Amino acid sequence: MKQILSKVIGLENLGNSIYRLTFEAPEIADKVAPGQFVNIRISEEYSPLLRRPFSVYNKTGKNLQILFNAVGRGTNILSIKKEGDKLDVIGPLGNSFSLSGQFETALLVGGGMGVASLPLLCAAIQNKIIHVVTFVGAKNKESLIVDNLRNVICATDDGSKGFRGNVVSLVEQHINEMNVVKPKIFACGPPPMLRAISELAKKYKILCEVSIESAMACGIGICQGCPVERIGTANKYSLVCKDGPIFDSNTIKFVLHD
Ligand SMILES: Cc1cc2nc3c(=O)[nH]c(=O)nc-3n(C[C@H](O)[C@H](O)[C@H](O)COP(=O)(O)OP(=O)(O)OC[C@H]3O[C@@H](n4cnc5c(N)ncnc54)[C@H](O)[C@@H]3O)c2cc1C
Ligand code: FES
Repeated sequence: MKQILSKVIGLENLGNSIYRLTFEAPEIADKVAPGQFVNIRISEEYSPLLRRPFSVYNKTGKNLQILFNAVGRGTNILSIKKEGDKLDVIGPLGNSFSLSGQFETALLVGGGMGVASLPLLCAAIQNKIIHVVTFVGAKNKESLIVDNLRNVICATDDGSKGFRGNVVSLVEQHINEMNVVKPKIFACGPPPMLRAISELAKKYKILCEVSIESAMACGIGICQGCPVERIGTANKYSLVCKDGPIFDSNTIKFVLHD
């Protein structure tokens, strides 16, 4: 893990309020594994005080990319960064997706911004003899991000592209209609999606890893501010930032706040 003062290389608006930010981070790019994240200090001012975590979306040489949705104060400030601006970044943080285990087909599932943790995983799987199918879900076709992914099948809530409905229903349809050999699911997305995919994995007895999002402060296991309740593990709670963000879906108690 390194803390670096990085330089912004570029910021692209991909439509709606979704942005792709590229910044120089050779020390982090060297070490980052699929599913890991960086914790970014948004501004040199005291507000917002807390860093914001983002999955590493891609790496190209010494540069890293994140994909973000401008939903609040921090991400709105990020959305006006300019080439050459400085960015205080800590990473790579957290654990990574595991390619171990008995499986021959990787089912990658990304809902909303959850798709950000899939391209590095796709690239890592490319060197293995594993069949990949990627399921991407979004509100509508304008919000779909499918760059740097393989064998993509889309779902949109409004049916403007691909399957009409949620991405978990699309995965279930695929499992029922296609001959999927020894699958393992790798999923990242909002909590209701993760709970649904974990129930699906249980129903079909499929290995499943989920990447959990949680509000974070330190991002490195000190403040105890990101607990997730576990099932059937030695510890009742784990920290998303240090023990995760990737967990076996069977070991997570999903608590949804409406
Ligand atoms: C491990 C990890 C990886 C993450 N990776 C990404 C990523 O790759 N891309 C990305 O865009 N985000 C990602 N997030 C979430 C990201 O950290 C939040 O989007 C960010 O903290 C929002 O900060 P903000 O200051 O803009 O919003 P805040 O001002 O903190 O929140 C403003 C409002 O937005 C709501 N909000 C906060 N987060 C979200 C969200 N994710 N979706 C919808 N509404 C939200 C809050 O509930 C609040 O109402 C990740 C989080 C974790 C823990
Ligand atoms: S964010 Fe501080 S312990 Fe996880």
